[in-house]
Amino acid sequence: MMETDAIGENHFLADVLRLRGAAQVMMAEGAEPVGLLQAAMSAEIACVLRYSLIAVSADGLENEWVATECAAQAADEREHMVRLAARITELGGKPDYFAAHLATRHLPPEATKGCLPRLFTENLAAEQCVIELYRELSNHFSGHDPKTQAILDDILADEETHTSDMEDLLQTQLI
Ligand SMILES: [Fe+2]
Ligand SMILES: [Fe+2]
Repeated sequence: MMETDAIGENHFLADVLRLRGAAQVMMAEGAEPVGLLQAAMSAEIACVLRYSLIAVSADGLENEWVATECAAQAADEREHMVRLAARITELGGKPDYFAAHLATRHLPPEATKGCLPRLFTENLAAEQCVIELYRELSNHFSGHDPKTQAILDDILADEETHTSDMEDLLQTQLI
């Protein structure tokens, strides 16, 4: 499986795969909405960290397009995080911003110079996993919580844009 091969040292993908798996278990067990939204919010925190880290990496600082693209993407991901946090609060939960278990807190040392193609390939795999997470969550909320589903669908549309942006970058800037 491509996904499994791609995990390797891809901490970003490992984080979102783990969170998607946790959400799948919670959905199967009929967990409360807050727990599901927290899994998505933790994935968004991983995204904010990832794109912020790359924007100010050695490559990011040397390549203006990296800083611009990654900073814009980090801003989108932060907006997603806040929308989910707001919905968790509306539903009576308490959003957890700490995200203690995220491996994405650190860029691997070898990712500081000359690693952009690899980093963006990793980003693409992780974004594709995030899309699957949002599709599954949207289906789960379909029919009984239209407000949450609308938020998830809005975010899903943004994630699809992120994925196509990443594909474009890999085919243009990183060849
Ligand atoms: Fe996002
Ligand atoms: Fe994204």
